Amino acid sequence: MDAALADIDLANPDSYVGGVPVRWFERLRHEAPVSWHPEAAPNRGFWAVTRYDDLTQVHMDWHTFSSETGAVALEELDAEQLHARKTMLETDPPRHTELRRICSSRFSARGVGRYEDFIRDVARGVLDRALPLEEFDFVGEISRELPIRFLCSIFTVPQDDAPKLIRWGDQMIANQDPELSAAQVDAVDTEDYRLLPFRSPAALEVWSYADRQRELRATEPADDVIQALSVAQSEGTLSEADYHNYFSLLMIAGNETTRHTISAGMLALIEHPDQRRLLTERPELIPGATEEILRWATPVLHFRRTATRDVELRGARIRARDKVVTWYISANRDETVFPDPNAFDVTRSPNEHVTFGPGGPHFCLGAHLARLETTILFQELLPRLDGIELSGPVERIRSNFVNGIKRMPVRVSTT
Ligand code: HEM
Repeated sequence: MDAALADIDLANPDSYVGGVPVRWFERLRHEAPVSWHPEAAPNRGFWAVTRYDDLTQVHMDWHTFSSETGAVALEELDAEQLHARKTMLETDPPRHTELRRICSSRFSARGVGRYEDFIRDVARGVLDRALPLEEFDFVGEISRELPIRFLCSIFTVPQDDAPKLIRWGDQMIANQDPELSAAQVDAVDTEDYRLLPFRSPAALEVWSYADRQRELRATEPADDVIQALSVAQSEGTLSEADYHNYFSLLMIAGNETTRHTISAGMLALIEHPDQRRLLTERPELIPGATEEILRWATPVLHFRRTATRDVELRGARIRARDKVVTWYISANRDETVFPDPNAFDVTRSPNEHVTFGPGGPHFCLGAHLARLETTILFQELLPRLDGIELSGPVERIRSNFVNGIKRMPVRVSTT
């Protein structure tokens, strides 16, 4: 790699605070599409896969690029940590299939379709409270509220629990951001938490919450995800650790990511008023616009696989046990797949983004839910908005994993 390319520091969470470094990814796609990035010890480094086709190949070939033999993020885990923190994300078929089957039907298009009216009601309620404020933080009042309330309903837990679930989720997933997490992984000693998901003590609170919910269902069964997990545990498919990790995965994966999609979508529509006008005039375009919002937002920057054998990918000689990191954020701007990729175009078609993964066994379980939530929110919001502008600086989460907006002050006028 030449000197300028060698300066590209994808692992540093600070690289993303000012916005995704799109020019870096552009250079990598063109000049070094599969490139080696050294990391500070004890990590060795990783391969960065930046082109759409290569990312797809890695995700489809799970025999060669395993989720089971290493972690699925940059952090390197020893065998004990891997075992303690395992979710369906860190398994390959056939165990993966067994885990996913436990609640896949609840997240199918039909499974989440049952919640459409409820989601619409929640969206209206949140907007009824937020919009009259006229000047407010869009993340705090709207994006943060919605996904967790939908999850509370799917989990049939009290809506009043939403604030603490949000707090725990933030602490876990935004574990590189000092404002959101006291146990900032790259600044304080988190050795005591090495066996917990995201090395975060907040996981213990999520687990005890999961225990309490399971107890409640022992006396009063419910037709929900927690019941399904608890049945799977009593049948021996899930261990106690599996139950905890499954619960945390759903709570976190379903909350943060959709929140960041909604915030990023709103920001894109503020920055592209012609696109907002188009959707207000032609609301039938909103479901298609959701796809462009998802591509634009790409809330998960990357996931990782581990090579099980020596293999060549676009000329790069990957060795067994190397970390292979697939950058969705880059594939979603691959100019060979998306004409004019840096344009935000709500009518873009086709729009085969990889925001939920490119397919393969780990394709996002919550994709239908996330799409439905995003579409409904903008269907409800846009007709009510006469004007919307930023009223202060947009602040982003410090993270090399999640692409998220922390604060977005807005001023609105309503119709
Ligand atoms: C816009 C919102 C969302 C985004 C961007 C997103 C993104 C992703 C990505 C990139 C993956 C990995 C795909 C792969 O490795 O190929 C994934 C997996 C997963 N997502 Fe989502 N997700 C979102 C919403 C949700 C929701 C609402 C839930 C449901 C509670 C959810 C649950 C999961 C689960 C359980 C997995 C693991 C699937 C597996 O390993 O088989 N996600 N998601």
